[in-house]
Amino acid sequence: MIFMELADRFVIAIDGPAAAGKSTVSRMIASEYGYDYLDTGSMYRAIAFTCIQNQIEPTDEKLIVDILQNISIHFHRSGVNNEIFVNNLSVSSKIRTPEISEFASRISAFKEVRSFLFRLQREVISSGRHILEGRDTTTVVAPDADLKVFLTADIEERVKRRKQEMHNQGIMISWDEMYQNIKTRDERDTNRKESPLTRHPDALYIDSTNLTLDKVIKKIIVLTERD
Ligand code: C5P
Repeated sequence: MIFMELADRFVIAIDGPAAAGKSTVSRMIASEYGYDYLDTGSMYRAIAFTCIQNQIEPTDEKLIVDILQNISIHFHRSGVNNEIFVNNLSVSSKIRTPEISEFASRISAFKEVRSFLFRLQREVISSGRHILEGRDTTTVVAPDADLKVFLTADIEERVKRRKQEMHNQGIMISWDEMYQNIKTRDERDTNRKESPLTRHPDALYIDSTNLTLDKVIKKIIVLTERD
């Protein structure tokens, strides 16, 4: 049991594959239990967005590393959401497309991209109460987190949820395309050399295939509270 009330710094890290519900769970915990939410995937997406704007190919590691010199990323809290800015331009509403998902997944394999974001992420979580999520948050970014969670679900369930999410944003995508997108990202994230997606031995394992959002949140929160 971890006593959150006694700590100045308290960090919850949620790891897991694409579309497992990491963002939804983290956002809800942040708003209901008073944490700052750090969506590490949005940072990879923000870099992907900038590369696309500059017509850089996802294979052009050198140009991507060069562009990092001129990128400044920061967050602005607006209600329960954390808006992400690149060079003072808000990109939150532009980075959820399948094209950016694919691009972000590719460039996240580059060591310099990861170390650039690692430094920023460590700075953000250096003090205060944070919930951060993304593939490597329990293993690399915050292995010292007070609570580590590996959240997953069957791929069919993840495809269904992500397809619905896209649909809600007015993005129509077929089952097959969504399945392929998630499967490819899972494989790439798991097999990459730099910080591959893996389950930390101390992480609480949650398979959310048959769990409601509420149940998932309770499983996590119970570990941060006093008896
Ligand atoms: O979580 P999200 O789908 O927004 O992440 C986009 C991509 O960024 C992922 O497919 C993954 O390749 C990469 N990523 C990562 N490490 C993180 C967060 C995201 O490699 N901590």
